[in-house]
Amino acid sequence: MINLVVVGGQWGDEGKGKIVDLLCPAFSHVARFNGGNNAGHTVRFADRHLALHLIPSGITHPHCRCLVGPGVVIDPVALVNEIRTLEGQSIDVRKRLLLSARAHLTLPGHRLLDGAREASKGRGRIGTTGRGIGPTYETRAARTGVRLGLVRNPRRFREAVAVTCAELDRLLGCAGSEARPAAEDIEASIAAALELAPMVGDTAVALAQAVSRGEPILFEGAQGTFLDIDHGTYPYVTSSNCLAGFAAPASGLPARVLGGVLAVFKAYTTRVGEGPFPTEMTDSLGDHIRRRGNEFGTTTGRPRRIGWFDAVAGRTAVRLNGIDAVALTKLDVLDEMAAIRIATAYRSGEQLLDRLPDDDAELARLDPVYEELPGWRTDTASVTSFDRLPQPAQSYVRRLEELLGVPVCLVSTGPRREETIFRELEPFTSWVPQLGERH
Ligand code: IMP
Repeated sequence: MINLVVVGGQWGDEGKGKIVDLLCPAFSHVARFNGGNNAGHTVRFADRHLALHLIPSGITHPHCRCLVGPGVVIDPVALVNEIRTLEGQSIDVRKRLLLSARAHLTLPGHRLLDGAREASKGRGRIGTTGRGIGPTYETRAARTGVRLGLVRNPRRFREAVAVTCAELDRLLGCAGSEARPAAEDIEASIAAALELAPMVGDTAVALAQAVSRGEPILFEGAQGTFLDIDHGTYPYVTSSNCLAGFAAPASGLPARVLGGVLAVFKAYTTRVGEGPFPTEMTDSLGDHIRRRGNEFGTTTGRPRRIGWFDAVAGRTAVRLNGIDAVALTKLDVLDEMAAIRIATAYRSGEQLLDRLPDDDAELARLDPVYEELPGWRTDTASVTSFDRLPQPAQSYVRRLEELLGVPVCLVSTGPRREETIFRELEPFTSWVPQLGERH
């Protein structure tokens, strides 16, 4: 049994929630290591849809301990609401959720600052989720933030919140905003944070103990490779590191504990917010995929931008994350297409490029070079065996494998757990040998 990192191979929204949920039977711990409630992980539970934002997707599995690490930023009001929603579905959260004392808190001023920064950027805005994520990482880096662990000493906690709020007021002024958080909103954040106190602890120690007992950990990444603050399409990125390698330091563990990397890719590409998107489709085919794939943000409800599968970006993701295997989601969304395109290179004048340039502005100027494959025009929804897929669908998956250079071990053909093809491929079968039998 290994410790596995599950990350998004594209710009987020790849369907990581379903894949993590499927893998949970093989893991005793599920740990979130980055992002905040900008994430939206959809999990099916007893025929209901759960949209999780901060709580790891393992929470619907009673045997899983769920941890939120120091690399995650926590909006206490959002988290308490999420806990209560889950409790309303009879899911026991409080005994199984451990929150890092080192995680930083998102306060109402962070959210206002997020909005003020976006407004001041005008056309150059990033298109953030508006959840205050960037400003929370900003005060963390400036060492003016509040860490969750302080809730264990309410007096010190209130003092720290006051210092951060004063700093945020200053930053709001600098951003040209006259808005200031209402006192009752700050009080609501304080009350929510204090409610979280019984769940606060040292997640790094808990995970290190799990490692020493040989209990397998699944690290659940949020967002996706190209939203990574250092390696993504800067500045149109989120403010945390989303790559697989960060799962270890962001959780307080040594790098050697990470045993494998499974990346989730959609069978096409989507992106929310602004920023370059070489394979974007702005035509009716894009609208068709958006409708069929219900491509509207889990967190904000915004329509997602749609594009063809970008194998140049995909190969870059394989290199950046050290991806060992791929889970391909939403294959069935392409069922009605007459032909399907894959970008295999980018063209810049006479020059062909086989990787993403390190200059974001240049990426926006490149033209993708496409390879076209025949569509299958057959219903593949709910298919559970690879051999049952129509030949062109099999060829599409095999071509993606060839272009990415790693095996596609899982193919998702619908939102439900059962609507999944498990392929008997290494390294997947050695990571989670018993999963095939369970599904
Ligand atoms: P922020 O993380 O709210 O600051 O937003 C920065 C960028 O990341 C924006 O383009 C968002 O749309 C994008 N983003 C953040 N979280 C997610 C996610 O979970 N899925 C997809 N895009 C995201």
